[in-house]
Amino acid sequence: MSRMLSKLIKFAAILGALGLISTAAQAGNAYQGYVLFNQTCFLCHGNSGEGDGPLAKKLDVSPADLTDESSRAGESSDRQLFGLIQGTIKHGSGTSAMPRWGLAMPAIQIDSIVAYIRFLQRSKHALPGDPNVGKQVYLDKCAACHGRDGRGNGPLAEVLGMKAKDHTNSAEMNKNPNSYLVEVITHGSAGKSLMPGWKEVLSEEEIEGVVSYIRLLSTY
Ligand code: HEC
Ligand code: HEC
Repeated sequence: MSRMLSKLIKFAAILGALGLISTAAQAGNAYQGYVLFNQTCFLCHGNSGEGDGPLAKKLDVSPADLTDESSRAGESSDRQLFGLIQGTIKHGSGTSAMPRWGLAMPAIQIDSIVAYIRFLQRSKHALPGDPNVGKQVYLDKCAACHGRDGRGNGPLAEVLGMKAKDHTNSAEMNKNPNSYLVEVITHGSAGKSLMPGWKEVLSEEEIEGVVSYIRLLSTY
């Protein structure tokens, strides 16, 4: 191998370790993305993602509305959106206040934020409650049948030979409004279906939380 080439490879490895270039495309986790977005990005882009965060007015360049599907963030491929966040693809204004997150975040976290931004752009239904409350409820009460990742294949579903609903299918999940999901979770599915009702077990806040959490299990 030429010395030039081995130097280049070493340089790429260092950039990779710093997270400055992505080494592999990984499937992000929209719930993780939700958490990270509301810890950092909200400062400028707002909790809603529309660009109205508490720091927004202090910036010379307005933070983008990330929820708009016809914006640059909306029209970008996942890889381009990753690059915009990472700081390897330039922003519109050139003199941007948008931080280069590749300096502070590993690639898997950026992938998760990409997944959450897709949710903001493409989900037909907003989150009715707190997904952090919902996560605990889901893992304690629902994952045995629906599976930890929401695919409907938890251990109890196998044992009982049933198919619990797959929450990762966004086209299916988008068909039903939040009010319908709250209703099914509160009272259970009709007939012989093994989907139980949780009225006596969970508070309204917990049910709205778990609806929010399962919405974030969908992939867009
Ligand atoms: C300190 C303020 C600030 C923070 C915090 C911030 N951004 Fe930005 N962001 C901006 C500004 C300003 C722009 C517009 C840049 C421009 O037009 O040059 C922008 C642009 C973007 C764009 C490009 C959109 C487009 O239409 O070009 C994406 C994507 C983005 N931000 C994602 C994020 C994510 C994800 C986070 C959290 C990890 C984040 N931003 C945190 C200020 C911020
Ligand atoms: C004992 C197994 C079991 C448990 C525990 C369980 N489910 Fe289900 N769930 C099912 C089955 C089976 C279905 C499919 C029922 C059907 O389509 O009629 C289902 C369907 C659903 C649906 C879709 C209903 C529809 O009509 O589209 C939602 C939403 C849902 N479950 C949420 C939850 C939540 C949230 C929890 C935890 C609080 C939970 N489930 C716990 C078995 C379970």
